Amino acid sequence: MNDIIDGLMQIPARISPKYFYDAKGSALFEDITRLQAYYPTRTEHGIMIAKGREMAREIGEQRTLIELGAGNCQKARALCELIRPSHFLAVDISEAFLHDAVAAMRLSFPKIDIRAIAADLTTDFVLPPDVPEHGRLVFYPGSSIGNFDLPEALSLLKRIRALLLDDGALLIGVDLLKNETVLYKAYDDELGVTAAFNLNALDHLNHLIGSDFDTRQWQHRAFFNSAQSRIEMHLEALTDQHVHWHHGVRCFSRGERIHTENSYKYRVDDFVDILRDAGLTRTQVWTDDKAWFAVMLARP
Ligand code: AVI
Repeated sequence: MNDIIDGLMQIPARISPKYFYDAKGSALFEDITRLQAYYPTRTEHGIMIAKGREMAREIGEQRTLIELGAGNCQKARALCELIRPSHFLAVDISEAFLHDAVAAMRLSFPKIDIRAIAADLTTDFVLPPDVPEHGRLVFYPGSSIGNFDLPEALSLLKRIRALLLDDGALLIGVDLLKNETVLYKAYDDELGVTAAFNLNALDHLNHLIGSDFDTRQWQHRAFFNSAQSRIEMHLEALTDQHVHWHHGVRCFSRGERIHTENSYKYRVDDFVDILRDAGLTRTQVWTDDKAWFAVMLARP
């Protein structure tokens, strides 16, 4: 919890995007993925449909599939149909959400050995000791890698690389740089679902640190920072206010912001370079027709 308070006391204030994902936040994120304006999920899905057979040939069957940020396991479901893994390990920060999804997966795929672990990818995570070492396929879809600044992204990719011991591979979804209007609409949708998702982080903080944020006093802000090639999400104070928590207080002036998320948009070659820096040297890339999104298969 100290990281939350440290972040709130900074100028400008910031909190980690991992605090979006309480039960309500995870459900709101699912709503976002169904929005017409939010292209990443459906574009990645389209690539998996169109190029799935080719990918499956490259990947091969009977692997141990490890999905990071598994959520509702929807994407793993499609991949399991394609590559018929022997084991599936779902990893996510939101434990309650994961258990229901994994129970449903077990019903659909009785022949696959299926397990769930709750883990925070921003810190070191360890796999259970009996996860097979041979033929691991780490699956990190949805372009969640884009929510990390470069040093953290690189460190996560290196930790993933360290899991790929014997004939291992990484299948990763990466959101690509594109027209700013498309980006902006995806992160400030007309229905206000992304706004609700962003504001819900304040309710989550209230629960975690006992603060008294009033979401009616804040508004969602999203814009593209072209110098950094990233969408930034912020919460902006609508009034001057004091926010209290146990043994602490922070004064916010009207217009002051809390930075809640970055979502980096990459060029294919730049991301291939990052993979190489993480020790993943052999990469294959599949994109959609508009080159809005890429699915990359990377091996050491
Ligand atoms: C989870 N992650 C890839 C999403 C993104 O697009 O950066 C989170 C999100 N934030 C706002 N809308 C979706």
